[in-house]
Amino acid sequence: MITPGMAQTIAIVNSKGGVGKTTTVINLASCLAEKKKVLIVDLDSQGNATLDMGLSPKQLDAEKKTIIYALAGTKSLLDLVQLDNPAVIPAGQSLASVELPSAQVLREKLQPLISNYDYILFDCAPTLTRTTAAALVASDKVLVPIDLDIKSFAGIGQLFSTVTEINKRGNRGLSVLGVLPTRYQKRHKHDQAMLEQLKKIVEPRFKVFTPIPETTNVKKASRASQPLIKFMPRARGVKEYYELADYIIKYGN
Ligand SMILES: Nc1ncnc2c1ncn2[C@@H]1O[C@H](COP(=O)(O)OP(=O)(O)OP(=O)(O)O)[C@@H](O)[C@H]1O
Ligand SMILES: [Mg+2]
Repeated sequence: MITPGMAQTIAIVNSKGGVGKTTTVINLASCLAEKKKVLIVDLDSQGNATLDMGLSPKQLDAEKKTIIYALAGTKSLLDLVQLDNPAVIPAGQSLASVELPSAQVLREKLQPLISNYDYILFDCAPTLTRTTAAALVASDKVLVPIDLDIKSFAGIGQLFSTVTEINKRGNRGLSVLGVLPTRYQKRHKHDQAMLEQLKKIVEPRFKVFTPIPETTNVKKASRASQPLIKFMPRARGVKEYYELADYIIKYGN
């Protein structure tokens, strides 16, 4: 029996593209949803989280049922909720066409929903746009998926500085949940070395979670418009997402 409380809000952020943000959002949300009440908020005009949850960003945009109609319009976010658990507030191309009125708008508009869920996950775009800033202003925690490429490591320093900046500018409660290495090939010496280096850089300050292995199953699940943990519950990569969800439930506060 799920007892909804005051939601913890978690932004899944990395300004680098293709590092597994969306994959992490949909799988982590689905793992958490087995024990808790969860909402995914798609904040990327690509609408990938919306699509991977089996919804059509194009159609929902045409019906004015995507997030922009609340953030820059008169709708309540409550009117936009699709599916049950995880529930989804969809996004589509329209999100790229309008500037948000303020960085606070998401935080304000979430208020009527916050007691309906235990966890709210924001799938952010691969840019530090105003929408991503709005996600950070509305968040309690930041989770950073990262690929094991040396060029990606410079970007996380910048992201941690952005978190400090947001702390100074008003959201004092924002903190880093940790860094999640993705697409890890444990037999490759390069990936092993990069993981060690990542830990050296990050672990003095933040947690580095168990890496998510590289697996073609992620793409297969995406083609089936489902999270991997639902599409292939025994596949490689599934147990690491459950481990992350369990950590968040136990220690994430
Ligand atoms: N563990 C994995 N193993 C193999 N492929 C993966 C894995 N995780 C993600 N991918 C693939 O990598 C690509 C990028 O993943 P995803 O869309 O989750 O990244 P993203 O950071 O959200 O991208 P964007 O910055 O464009 O929003 C996708 O094609 C996805 O299928
Ligand atoms: Mg994405």
